This record gives sequence, C-alpha cells and structure tokens, in this order.
Amino acid sequence: MTADLFESVAGLLPSREVMAEGAVLLRGFARPVEAELLAAISEIEAQAPFRRMFTPGGHQMSVAMTNCGNAGWVTDRSGYRYDRIDPGSGKPWPAMPSVLRELAESAAGEAGFAGFVPDACLINRYEPGAKMSLHQDRDEKDYSAPIVSVSLGLPAIFLFGGPRRSDKTQRYRLAHGDVVVWGGPSRLFFHGVAALADGEHPLLGRKRVNLTFRRAR
Ligand code: SIN
Ligand code: FE2
Repeated sequence: MTADLFESVAGLLPSREVMAEGAVLLRGFARPVEAELLAAISEIEAQAPFRRMFTPGGHQMSVAMTNCGNAGWVTDRSGYRYDRIDPGSGKPWPAMPSVLRELAESAAGEAGFAGFVPDACLINRYEPGAKMSLHQDRDEKDYSAPIVSVSLGLPAIFLFGGPRRSDKTQRYRLAHGDVVVWGGPSRLFFHGVAALADGEHPLLGRKRVNLTFRRAR
C-alpha cells in the first residue's frame, strides 16, 4: 500500500486509545460536526458570555467558562455547584443544542456507556497560558454516568492520573476534534490541563474550547 493510500484509509478508521479502565480517547471523533458545534457555541456565548469565575478560596480562574443545559457548573466564594440559573444574567443557561447532546451520547456509547443523557455542558475557553490544575469531577450527584470531554481549537496537554492526587499522571495531547470519555472505574480519576501553548488554529484562532458533558443531577 502506498503511503498516501495508507493515510486515507487510516483517516477513515475510528481511532481509540484506552487510557485506563473506563477511560478512552477517541481521536477526531467530533470532526464531522465541527461546523455545527462552533455555530452552536457562538449562539450560546451570545446569550451567556464566557467569564472567569472565582474559586471559593478567592482565586480567579485562568480559564473562562459558560454553560448550556439544565444545570450549569459555577464557582464563587460560597463554593462549587450546579445551578439552573446563570448568575451573570439571572436567567436559565441556554438549552443544550441537539448537536452537542447527540455528540456526547454517541461518544459515550462508543466508549461503552450507552444510555448516557447529559444535563450539563460546561464550556471552557483557554487562551495561551490558561490551565486547569489537577482535580476530580465530584460535584455531580451520581457517579454512574461518565464524563465526556470534547476538545476544539489549539491542542492542549491533558493530564490524566488515578484515584489519588499523588498518582502519576499520563500526558495526552488533545487536538481539535478529540473526545475523551471517562467513567466507571476511572470516573473519579484526577485530571487537569497544562498551560496552553500559544498558536493559531485555522478555525478558532489563539484559543482552545473544551466542552465537558456531565450528568449533574
Ligand atoms: C475539565 O476537567 O473540566 C476540563 C478538561 C479540559 O479542558 O480538557
Ligand atoms: Fe474536570
């Protein structure tokens, strides 16, 4: 097979990399709907702009956030929680567009979590230098549902560890269109994002946008 033919065949195969038991990286999984995703994010952003929230300790996050869906993740001096209302507008978060929900459901199914129905989609915007320190996603009521994370724009280094903060982390480069799903035995694994390197993405410019789908309630 010529190198060109190999490339085109490889491009058609779904690529999956197992990161841990219950955790899988689906490279390029969101690419077929990238235009619809970006259009949906622009509409959400127009109703619920990105903002840099404060942690309970009073530290302003470097990542700017917004949400869509019935439950939006928020943080302020009183703590981390899910809220139906955007504290910025006093109105409910924008509804979750079906293209987002369907992508999350199909990625979850591909990773072995059929029946996942997200009610929350946190949208993170990273500019060069923004990062997210190692944490667990534990503000959800029920840990039986997985987390589905969609990366768009500039590539980032995703750190994926284990059940303890001190566990060694593996580094994965997440590029535009990559989807990570973790649940089951790895649902509460520590993870984070290294400081975003500067660059220029053909569709998003100097930023990375991450969609994190969860069953919050
Ligand atoms: C998160 O853990 O909430 C975000 C992960 C990411 O931006 O890839
Ligand atoms: Fe997280």
